[in-house]
Amino acid sequence: MAWYIFMRPTISSALNAIPDIVKKPIKTIFCCQNCGYQTPKWMGKCPDCGQWHTFVEEALTIGEIRGTKPGFTVAPATAVPIHSIELDNEERHTTGIQEFDRVLGGGIVPGSLVLIGGDPGIGKSTLMLQALNGLAGRGHKVLYVSGEESVRQLRMRSKRLSAASSDMFVVSETDLELILRMVESNHPDVLVIDSIQTMFSPDLTSAPGSVSQVRESAMRLMLLSKKTGIPVFLVGHVTKEGAIAGPRLLEHMVDTVLYFEGDRNHVFRILRAVKNRFGSTNEIGVFEMKERGLDEVANPSAVFLSERPANAPGSVVTASMEGTRPILVELQALAGNTSFATPRRTILGLDPNRVALLVAIMEKKLGMHLMGHDLFMNVAGGVKVDEPALDTAIISAVASSFLDKSIREGFIVLGEVGLTGEVRAISHVETRIAETQKMGFRKCLIPQSNLKRIVEKEGIELIGIRTVSEAMEILF
Ligand SMILES: Nc1ncnc2c1ncn2[C@@H]1O[C@H](COP(=O)(O)OP(=O)(O)OP(=O)(O)O)[C@@H](O)[C@H]1O
Ligand SMILES: [Mg+2]
Repeated sequence: MAWYIFMRPTISSALNAIPDIVKKPIKTIFCCQNCGYQTPKWMGKCPDCGQWHTFVEEALTIGEIRGTKPGFTVAPATAVPIHSIELDNEERHTTGIQEFDRVLGGGIVPGSLVLIGGDPGIGKSTLMLQALNGLAGRGHKVLYVSGEESVRQLRMRSKRLSAASSDMFVVSETDLELILRMVESNHPDVLVIDSIQTMFSPDLTSAPGSVSQVRESAMRLMLLSKKTGIPVFLVGHVTKEGAIAGPRLLEHMVDTVLYFEGDRNHVFRILRAVKNRFGSTNEIGVFEMKERGLDEVANPSAVFLSERPANAPGSVVTASMEGTRPILVELQALAGNTSFATPRRTILGLDPNRVALLVAIMEKKLGMHLMGHDLFMNVAGGVKVDEPALDTAIISAVASSFLDKSIREGFIVLGEVGLTGEVRAISHVETRIAETQKMGFRKCLIPQSNLKRIVEKEGIELIGIRTVSEAMEILF
């Protein structure tokens, strides 16, 4: 026995004994193509996102992800006092498209990595081309890398949009190594990659668009932007479920995530910041898609209310805060007798759970028996709003359709509703009231607790409410 212990080889000595050829050079992992979850063994169902048959075997070479390759590598990290860091070019680049600049928090920050996601054909390439043209017109040298379209196709679009500044360079390429080399030699001020799913690194064996390729490409581009200070925009596709296709982890790596959304049947497109390290989130920019490209909509409230029917039951106007900006939207409800045992609830543009909660409050506190009614709700113009401050407006719209009575002329309704039917204070009341007044409304229902802290304004009547039943008495 003692002899055996003495002779037993240790693990490290055993590994040293294996010749180099036998050592596995590449580690393979199974990677969920939906969410990026990694596992050493194949699985049928992803334990993270719950999707079936999404695991694909991918080769992963260690070292590349850490940026140990030549070219754009990370500098050896040393800790420095924060005040000693020089901020030489802290100013932001503006594109001249005000809606776009505002969503970014006031322009493009040098060294930032921005992800723009959106449905196919929503206008991501159009927006990028117009923004780059704006930058090029201001003397910045910009590079647009397209992995999806040929340079001729890009030229055709640029001709249609009249975006053909001499400082804008375009290239059709998908090999990341070549792109990085091109950036190194050309030194553009801003880089756009359209789209990140088409980029591939020849070092990885997996196909372009797979999670490890997308992650590797994004990581290399992040190192590029942080090291050189070049702002990089990544265009990303969105899956059917609405997440940026492939890796959700991309959202953690970038500084800013913008979603370009909108109904393709509507001409309006909304650019929304869902994450921003340099500005407020939920900021939105509104655009209109035209033959000659995207046009800014400077006054979205006017646009969203333009087709509002006068004195129609089920229609209520309210003010929603989108980032730092108030926007007036029209909520529409239709409550009709149901022919099913369980009534239908179809809610577009609002949170269905919130509406279900408010309907329950209406049943209990207002005695409106909506159980026998189908309920359909919509926000006019294809906008999505999700804020507790719209609760009273949702209840008013449903009640208006249920009673088949329009609410009183010229009213705007604001306030959050609690489960006992009380109306609670909301944020940014004064900004919302100012927008309301600007749009020509003369009466505003606001929570009583907010009213106490507001100075009376000329030209608009502010009415404080404590409960939803008080609101109903005033409105109908
Ligand atoms: N001649 C035209 N007139 C008006 N609108 C046009 C015209 N050509 C294209 N469009 C609009 O531009 C949209 C396509 O824009 P764009 O190619 O920028 O979208 P994308 O989001 O980049 O698409 P993809 O996902 O395919 O890359 C179309 O859906 C259409 O609304
Ligand atoms: Mg495109």
